[in-house]
Amino acid sequence: MLWFRAPEKVYIKRGCLPVALEELKEEINRKRVFIVTDTFLYKNGYTKVITDKLDEMGIVHTTFYNVEPDPSLKSAKEGAKEMETFEPDCIIAIGGGSAMDAAKIMWVLYEHPDVDFLDMAIRFQDIRKRVYKFPKMGEKAYFIAVPTSAGTGSEVTPFAVITDERTGVKYPLADYELMPDMAIVDSNMMMNAPKGLTAASGIDAVSHSLEAIASMMATDYTDGLALRALKMIFEYLPRAYEKGADDPEAREKMANAATMAGMAFANAFLGVCHSMAHKLGAFHHIPHGIANALLLDEVLRFNSSNVPEKMGTFPQYEHPHTLERYAEVADYLNLDGNTNEEKLENLIKAIDELKKKIEIKETIRDYGIEEKDFLDTLDEMSQQAFDDQCTGSNPRYPLISEIKQMYLNAYYGKNSKNDAV
Ligand SMILES: NC(=O)c1ccc[n+]([C@@H]2O[C@H](COP(=O)([O-])OP(=O)(O)OC[C@H]3O[C@@H](n4cnc5c(N)ncnc54)[C@H](O)[C@@H]3O)[C@@H](O)[C@H]2O)c1
Ligand SMILES: [Fe+2]
Repeated sequence: MLWFRAPEKVYIKRGCLPVALEELKEEINRKRVFIVTDTFLYKNGYTKVITDKLDEMGIVHTTFYNVEPDPSLKSAKEGAKEMETFEPDCIIAIGGGSAMDAAKIMWVLYEHPDVDFLDMAIRFQDIRKRVYKFPKMGEKAYFIAVPTSAGTGSEVTPFAVITDERTGVKYPLADYELMPDMAIVDSNMMMNAPKGLTAASGIDAVSHSLEAIASMMATDYTDGLALRALKMIFEYLPRAYEKGADDPEAREKMANAATMAGMAFANAFLGVCHSMAHKLGAFHHIPHGIANALLLDEVLRFNSSNVPEKMGTFPQYEHPHTLERYAEVADYLNLDGNTNEEKLENLIKAIDELKKKIEIKETIRDYGIEEKDFLDTLDEMSQQAFDDQCTGSNPRYPLISEIKQMYLNAYYGKNSKNDAV
C-alpha cells in the first residue's frame, strides 16, 4: 500500500491570510493563539496582519520571536516553556523553514513534555512501519503554518530539523504527526524577500522536486505535483529573483510551486542530495538551499547510472530507471535531446543556467570554504551523509566512497580530476 498525506487545509492566493484566519473563530472556535517567528520578521511587522485580525476577532495572543536560523533545541525549549504558561489552543508559525520547524518542535514539547529527542530521531526505512511510535499531536493545540519564503515546503511536510546547540548534532524528525493542520500560502508575505533568500529557497524547491521524482517512494500523485512545480520554478524563479515585489505574479507562482514541491517530498521523501546538503550545511555553514544546489548535478549523474554498485533497498521497480525519470522531466520542460543520456545532459545544463540566472556560484570552493578545512571534514561528512535519514529513499544506494567522490567533484568543479582515496 502507498498513501498521500497533506494538511487538512491548504489556503492559497495572494491576500488569503486574514481571510483564512477567520476560521479560527467561525469554524474551530479557538481562543488563545501562540505565534512563533524570528526577530527580523517580528521587527519588520510580518506578524501584524495576524495580530490585527486576531484582535478584530477578540482572540487573545502572544508572540515568541526568538527563533534563530537553523533553530536550536534550546530556543525550542524556551518557546515551549512560554507555551506551557500561556496554554494556547492554536499555534501559528510564520516565517521561513527555521521558524516553522522550531514551532513544530515547540508544539511537540508543549503537547508531550516528556518526549526524548533521541528516540524520536531513530531512523527508519518505511515511515508506516517504524519501531518508534510518535506521540499523538493536536490534543492541546491546532497548528497553522504561514511560509514567508518559497521555499522549504515545511508548511506541508511532516518534517522538522532541530540542532542540539551543546553537541552541534542535528535531529531531523519525521512523522505525520508533525504535519501542520493548516497551511496558509499568501505571497504577500514573500513580496520583499531579499535576493539571497529568494535564490536559496527557490533552488531548495528545485531539489525537493527532483529528489521526489527520483525517489523510490515516488507515486503518480507526487510526480504530478513535482513536475508542475519544476516547470513553474524554471519559468518564474528568475523573474521573482530579478524583480521581487515588482513581479507579484512570479512571487505567487513561486509560493505555490514551493508548496507543491513540499507536498511531493512530504510523501515521496528526498534522497542523497539532501543527505549531503544537511552535512555540508552543518559543517561549513552554507545555507540549506545553496548546499543542495552545489550537489545537485553530481547527484543527478550518480542516480542515472544503469549499473549501480547497489540499488535502493525497497524499490518499486525491477531495474534502475532513474535515467528515464530524468528524461521524462527534460521532456516535460521542453528541453531537447534524442536519447535519454542527451536529455539528462540538457536537464543538467538547464539547472546550471537557472543557477547562473539567480547568481548561485558553481562550486563549494567558490563559497570561501578553505581546501584544508573541507578535506579535514570530508570523511566525517561522508559517513554522516551516508547515515542520514534521506539516504534511504534515494534510488541508488550510495557507498561512503561514492558520497566522498561527489563531495570532491562539487568542491573542485566539473573539470578537475580529484579522486577519493
Ligand atoms: N521541515 C522541512 O520540511 C524543511 C525542508 C527544507 C528545509 N528546512 C529547514 O529550513 C531552514 C531554512 O529555511 P529558509 O530557507 O526558509 O530560511 P530561514 O527560515 O532560515 O530564514 C532565513 C532568513 O530570511 C529571513 N526571511 C524569511 N522570510 C523573509 C521575508 N519574506 N522577507 C525578508 N526576510 C525574510 C529570516 O528572517 C531569516 O533571517 C533550514 O533550517 C532547513 O533545515 C526544513
Ligand atoms: Fe530542502
